[in-house]
Amino acid sequence: PVVLSQSKFIHRDNLSYPFEERGLQFGDGVYEVIRVYRGTYHLLKEHVDRLFRSAEAIKLALPFTNEQLIASLLELLKRNDMKTDGKVYLQATRGSAPRDHVFPKGVVANVYAYVQNLDRNLVNLQQGVSVLTHEDIRWEYCFIKSLNLLPNVLAKQTAKEKNCYEAILHKDGKVTECSSSNVYLVKDGTIYTHPTTKQILHGCVRMAVERFAKDLDIPFVEEAFMLDDIQDADELFLTSTTSEVLPIITVDGETIRDGKPGSITRRLQKAYEMDAN
Ligand code: PDD
Repeated sequence: PVVLSQSKFIHRDNLSYPFEERGLQFGDGVYEVIRVYRGTYHLLKEHVDRLFRSAEAIKLALPFTNEQLIASLLELLKRNDMKTDGKVYLQATRGSAPRDHVFPKGVVANVYAYVQNLDRNLVNLQQGVSVLTHEDIRWEYCFIKSLNLLPNVLAKQTAKEKNCYEAILHKDGKVTECSSSNVYLVKDGTIYTHPTTKQILHGCVRMAVERFAKDLDIPFVEEAFMLDDIQDADELFLTSTTSEVLPIITVDGETIRDGKPGSITRRLQKAYEMDAN
């Protein structure tokens, strides 16, 4: 496999970075995960735009323009002769330099991207998944897609150990998002989800879902819901690049309604499939 490294294409085995790398030592960097369906990117512009916003928020100068990055990412798929479903992981760190908290003078960002195969999980998409609730112990800048994912990793691991797919995060009972996805509640035909403040990642699939809701005339209200609202919800679902639009059927062991994915979730799943084709 060929990877994009510092705007060049090299074989994966030849990729190496010094141990004094700011991504490794400080988590001083940002990333994206972009979906590929049958060799074509989905929501590419949204992801690239968000990478630039994340980089700007941490004062990281990317050594290319938005257009140059898009061209390189397209070339990455070509060089790998990518024809299947997959995902691209892209990471940009502040660079390599002797360890110092202060930005080192003249340091240049390290950027790499690689593609992996990823099959759609049709069973989960059809049946829905179980989740648990977990305190949101993250920092104040969750809109930055930062490499510092320890709270997310710990929450997701807790979920996994309880046979759950995801952890719904909450601050004092107010639901923000999940450990690596956005989350939505449907009540009386209206979709509710946390507004795009600094407290959540502004998901690319979330943007798409907002657009689908508009097209389908389904009210989309950017208003956080509370843990207490969940037991009375008509439907619950989550979204992310890797999970798509995924129904949630149990929360902390309690079933949502009849335990079957709801009709609005289904309509959004259909809209997603059309969009990704
Ligand atoms: N995660 N919220 C968080 C905390 C996330 O990490 C993600 C994505 C999302 C959904 O964003 P999007 O729709 O743009 O994928 C929301 C990626 C997939 C990951 O870290 O692997």
